Amino acid sequence: MNQITFTKPDDWHLHLRDEKQMASVVMHTAKYYKRAIVMPNLSNPVFTLELAQQYRERILKALRDDTAFEPLMTIYLTGDTSSQQIVEAKDSGIIHAVKLYPAGATTNSARGVSNLDQCDAVFRTMEKIGVPLSIHGEVTDSEIDIFDREKVFIEKHLSVLVKRYPDLKIILEHITTKDAVQFVESCSNNVGATITAHHILLNRNNILVGGIQPHHFCLPVVKTEADRQAVLNAATSGNPKFFLGTDSAPHARQEKESATGKAGIYSSPVSLPIYIEMFERENKLDQLEGFASFFGADFYSLPRNQETVTFKKEESTVPGRYDYANDYVVPLKANETVQWKLAE
Ligand code: DOR
Ligand code: ZN
Repeated sequence: MNQITFTKPDDWHLHLRDEKQMASVVMHTAKYYKRAIVMPNLSNPVFTLELAQQYRERILKALRDDTAFEPLMTIYLTGDTSSQQIVEAKDSGIIHAVKLYPAGATTNSARGVSNLDQCDAVFRTMEKIGVPLSIHGEVTDSEIDIFDREKVFIEKHLSVLVKRYPDLKIILEHITTKDAVQFVESCSNNVGATITAHHILLNRNNILVGGIQPHHFCLPVVKTEADRQAVLNAATSGNPKFFLGTDSAPHARQEKESATGKAGIYSSPVSLPIYIEMFERENKLDQLEGFASFFGADFYSLPRNQETVTFKKEESTVPGRYDYANDYVVPLKANETVQWKLAE
């Protein structure tokens, strides 16, 4: 196949940052995706509806007038978030999920939740009024190996949440393991998962072989080859519980190539070509549209998009860097080739 046309996809997990940095990256997503769930972990996190409204306005302002890109906003959950705030957020029509970061799990998560019991009333309200809970599923205990943190989160916390709140819609974000795939498959249809381009492309050798590769470091960290294959199989399976979420997470080059390099892979400019290529390699291009364009919208109870995108098979080299405010950001597959290109 040399050309493929499908319904314009959405990105159900995206980091846009803020101000000039946001303005430098948002068009890379808007080029390929119609909508995106915008994560709230800014350095001043989006704790409230009011902050989300203001952030949304800044994003819309940064977009060129001619794009129809729609940011879907989220709120950052803390131990102090109230049920009333959740009700107001839902009523606003602009908030599509509440994001749970276990405190300390990742970038700007210090104000996240350290005891899930504190959120009982909020979870009950979300369950009742239909607000999805988006979860960064990793424990942070120092004695738990970083490669086991997703698995242990599922065992210790997620399995409890799904039993306690059976009607709560839960998205286990950026799944990385066979354990996560099996767990999500075993749950009711209220539990889904996003899958990134990097977690179906890379295994942990890509971080550590041939010298440390900081641009492949993200959280949850990429896992074994068997895990990568399990996650890729889930993505290409046609099971509507699994849908596209890039977790594209730009950091300035200096912050990545540092003694304490930040976690996050910047994939917006290449994510869709990578997904297409990986589905093609598996001989599963027929499953791409469901994964990229239908299942996430269905899970979030939003309409499917009407527009289409066309990609042609044509090799191109990914730029080594993109401007990022006063610095630059190195994308996934920098200076390497991708096989599919948007037909303009
Ligand atoms: O690698 C990651 N980067 N994982 C996350 O969960 C957050 C993200 C970021 O915001 O940088
Ligand atoms: Zn993320």
